[in-house]
Amino acid sequence: MMTPSVPQLPLEAYRRLLDIARDLAATLDLESLLHRIVTAAAELSDAEAASILLYDPQRKILHFQTATNLSGALQETMQVPLEGSLAGLALRRRRPVRRQHAHTDPDHYGHLDKLTHIATESLIAVPLIANGEPIGVLEAVNKRSGAFSDADEEILTVLGAQAAVAIQNARLFLQADLIAELVHEVRTPLGAILAATQLLRFPQISEAQRRQAIDAIEREARYLNELTTTFLDLAALESGRARFHRERFAVAPLVDEVLQLFAAEIEAAGLTVETAIPHDLPPLEADRGKIKQVLINLVSNAIKYNRPGGKIRVAAYRENGHLVVTVSDTGVGIAPEHLKHLFEKFYRVPGSAQRATGSGLGLYICKRIVEAHHGHIRVHSKPGEGTTFIVDLPLTP
Ligand SMILES: Nc1ncnc2c1ncn2[C@@H]1O[C@H](COP(=O)(O)OP(=O)(O)OP(=O)(O)O)[C@@H](O)[C@H]1O
Ligand SMILES: [Mg+2]
Repeated sequence: MMTPSVPQLPLEAYRRLLDIARDLAATLDLESLLHRIVTAAAELSDAEAASILLYDPQRKILHFQTATNLSGALQETMQVPLEGSLAGLALRRRRPVRRQHAHTDPDHYGHLDKLTHIATESLIAVPLIANGEPIGVLEAVNKRSGAFSDADEEILTVLGAQAAVAIQNARLFLQADLIAELVHEVRTPLGAILAATQLLRFPQISEAQRRQAIDAIEREARYLNELTTTFLDLAALESGRARFHRERFAVAPLVDEVLQLFAAEIEAAGLTVETAIPHDLPPLEADRGKIKQVLINLVSNAIKYNRPGGKIRVAAYRENGHLVVTVSDTGVGIAPEHLKHLFEKFYRVPGSAQRATGSGLGLYICKRIVEAHHGHIRVHSKPGEGTTFIVDLPLTP
């Protein structure tokens, strides 16, 4: 006796696999593609949940990239070890692993079941192979009725191959894109450094010219140094390699720490700084280092685009279960037509290059970080009067 759904399954599977294959070449939106792959994996194999885990060779762990049943916040913190997990076993063996009673298997990593509140019964895990190297695992857990079959393994293997191609494509594309941009950004400061060193070779230059050349070399080298860090951060964020480590911390000392970093610059520009942070402000639960990075860019912008003798104000307050941090300046301001582009990658308001060095990546990175914390970043500005950036973060994730 056949159940009514059986004859339709291969056709449906075939159609879904073709659909995904068609999009594979066309889409660059890795996240939505991977999400469709795990959804198809769960539905076609009749599993309770499916997920894609990516391998981090440095830390010898697999971390969740996409899953049908996990919230973003939970997913970010979940990982399984390479040794001592069935997903790890599939990756190490480079072969699918299928279990009917995973929880009794010595290789099963039981810790996750507690976090997800799913008791893993049956499991099937296939390795994702790109260029002959295992890069991750596609797994489906808890077949709704019966046991995972050869057909399920076949379907997951095909979906896994598609996921591997998608991940590989996205990584290559990102690399090429970022390398092109980095080369472009690096040219101008390198040119300035070369010009200054050539000038220093002339014995007859004045002391003032000599000092200027050395200052230029130092300034541009510092900028190149910052630029490399920015690009590494960006590459990590965009490839999904950036991991967020949540901790509880007070905002006021963090703001002081950031302002301290800029103390010399603030003094040199004759700027005054004011902070308004209440003593009873609740602590934030977030990645402290990444939130610091957001504040560093906002304060650096408030300095770079201020007027001599201007003001900077950093305030924080609580509002409906959110923590709001604002950074305001009395600078040049931003005209309305530029506001909507401000958070785009590499966007700089025309004329900014004459005012200050920058790559136009800072606000884009801020937005990525704030949104990874389920928060928002906004801006208000009046040309000629000043600008305020408003970061809004949920107090509990
Ligand atoms: N406080 C501000 N006042 C006026 N304009 C601003 C302010 N902050 C940002 N901008 C404008 O927005 C652009 C983008 O800012 P963003 O921080 O992304 O880049 P950047 O400061 O130019 O370079 P980077 O941060 O990568 O060193 C700036 O180039 C500038 O034109
Ligand atoms: Mg900036």
